[in-house]
Amino acid sequence: MSMTLAFDVYGTLVDPMGMSRLLAEDAGDRAEAVAALWREKQLEFSFRKGLMKVYEDFGVCTRQALRYAMATHKLTLSEERENALMAAYLSLPAFDDALPALKSLKGQYPLFAFSNGSYPALEKVLGHNELLEQFEGLVSVDDIKSFKPDPAVYTYARRATGSWEKPLCLVSSNAWDVIGARAAGLLAIWVKRDPEKVFEDWDIQPSAVIKSLSELEATLKNL
Ligand code: LAC
Repeated sequence: MSMTLAFDVYGTLVDPMGMSRLLAEDAGDRAEAVAALWREKQLEFSFRKGLMKVYEDFGVCTRQALRYAMATHKLTLSEERENALMAAYLSLPAFDDALPALKSLKGQYPLFAFSNGSYPALEKVLGHNELLEQFEGLVSVDDIKSFKPDPAVYTYARRATGSWEKPLCLVSSNAWDVIGARAAGLLAIWVKRDPEKVFEDWDIQPSAVIKSLSELEATLKNL
């Protein structure tokens, strides 16, 4: 099927849990727990700001969530260290399967990165991992000042990628993102790298489920 592909970024192409290694300096053996809470709150803050219609750059959500995660674990960060961690967020590691999959799909489908992140942040984090040049373009929610899973964001992605006549297919490891895209009428493939991960039972199913981005090309042929 001819279609355009829109890749979620954080959690799908690059790994926010990559921060746990750096956080070891600040949080010791609680680094993984802090990194997980940081990610959870970053998302929650973006969802809430979207609902409250008080949009701010995703980087603001990230910084506020870092402060919350540290405070919850009764840890402190100097301003300098906070800035260093925020800077490191712009060079999160890519998942191993990301670059090979994008390289082999390039030329077969129009490829876009589609994220809650701002354009400058996306350019840095994707550029750092050689992913940026694989894409025809980037679509950031910053254009419409709301966040996924607002249906307006998915509709905007169709407009921004010119996908009116052919389907737009989201590729995401985030179940909430897959559900948001499906509810807004997009195709959406769930990348379930972690076999323990449970898909939320909302009676809204992914178009397909894959264990790794290396399975994406074959899966798209059968969609
Ligand atoms: C993204 C994150 C929020 O949109 O998953 O890239």
